Amino acid sequence: MFDKLTDDLQPGDVLARTVFDAGGQPLLKAGTALKPSYITRLRHRGYVTVTVEDGLADDVAPETLVSEQLRHTIAGHVGGFFGQMGDIARERGRGQGGVDEAVEDLGEQPLPLADRGREALEQLYADVQSLINEIVGSDTVAGLESLKTHNEYTFQHSVDVAVIGTLLGSRMGLSGGRLRELALGCLLHDLGKLYIDEAILDKPGKLSAEEFEAVKAHPRMGYELIRRMPVASLLPAHVAYQHHEQQRGTGYPNGLVGDNRIGPRLHEERMGAGKMLLIAEIGAVADVHSAVSSDRPYRRAMPPDVAADLIEGMAGKHLNREIVELFTRIVPRFPVGRWVEVLGGEFSGARGVVTELHVLRMDRPNVRVLIDADGERRAAPAELDLRTHEHVQLRSLDRHEQPTR
Ligand SMILES: [Fe+2]
Ligand SMILES: [Fe+2]
Repeated sequence: MFDKLTDDLQPGDVLARTVFDAGGQPLLKAGTALKPSYITRLRHRGYVTVTVEDGLADDVAPETLVSEQLRHTIAGHVGGFFGQMGDIARERGRGQGGVDEAVEDLGEQPLPLADRGREALEQLYADVQSLINEIVGSDTVAGLESLKTHNEYTFQHSVDVAVIGTLLGSRMGLSGGRLRELALGCLLHDLGKLYIDEAILDKPGKLSAEEFEAVKAHPRMGYELIRRMPVASLLPAHVAYQHHEQQRGTGYPNGLVGDNRIGPRLHEERMGAGKMLLIAEIGAVADVHSAVSSDRPYRRAMPPDVAADLIEGMAGKHLNREIVELFTRIVPRFPVGRWVEVLGGEFSGARGVVTELHVLRMDRPNVRVLIDADGERRAAPAELDLRTHEHVQLRSLDRHEQPTR
């Protein structure tokens, strides 16, 4: 199976995964052979990619950490909540003047969330618990597949960040209460983007100095919005506030620093002026991973191995080094189901699919070799265990390189 752009779909392509609508309901079931009318409908509804069968290795099912249905359901709720908050932001002088004026417009009272807004927030608390239940209860080593089927980027991104953040937080042993604050903070971390022009958010290419200043307002605005909501703790607001800070003080908006460790930390140290909170440092790693793993108007999604290289390169200066080390231990560079090219050894240049991971050697999976280096389909697939072929490397195949029958 592989992800195909809906622009490239052909009649007869078979869905390998169910496509869900914004409400989390199945729109087209796995196994459906696409007719022209279905393809048109998918494009009209804003789906960018769907997963289709490749006719070669469809029996290899990727492990999923969180069900796609739950991800879609939460993305729908996040969208609804952002809508509610957007109404309030618009009523209160959104976009006029600078950040300080916008904060002043919010006033010091709790925000007047209407009943629907309160329900939406309660729903998010319930979603956060469902997410934690699925992740804490899972011992699978799953790839972090992004919800990239729909075009409402901010909402999918929010869910992706919450999934990765919760995975990291749970594997480092955070308590249930702290995990809930982390996950809610991740879901709402970009809420302040309500104050940024969409044309700037989706702009391909480099932002002007003025546009970047506008973007840099979103952590503060997110914090100011969340802390005026009926939330159980201020910590989710700080995840939003600090998610663009960096370990060496080179981030924004306050130039906080980190010590590149996971902990344990004293209460005073955690809350100390000038220092990032651990849950915000987790959010920062999750934010970068989600951003580079998603299709954007200005660039394609990076495959997991390339995204992992990038994140490792950011450890120390930008991202908390120990959190990045944990990340690379628990998230596979080549998840099950991924099409790869074999580099080196007798199968060099051949292509195949990752079939099995080994927890203690995640960098050395098993690969089923299906296509020879000359592009011919092998009569019999070869099973390659990379643990016994130490000189062999792998490279993820891009969408346009995926072989099909
Ligand atoms: Fe952000
Ligand atoms: Fe973000």
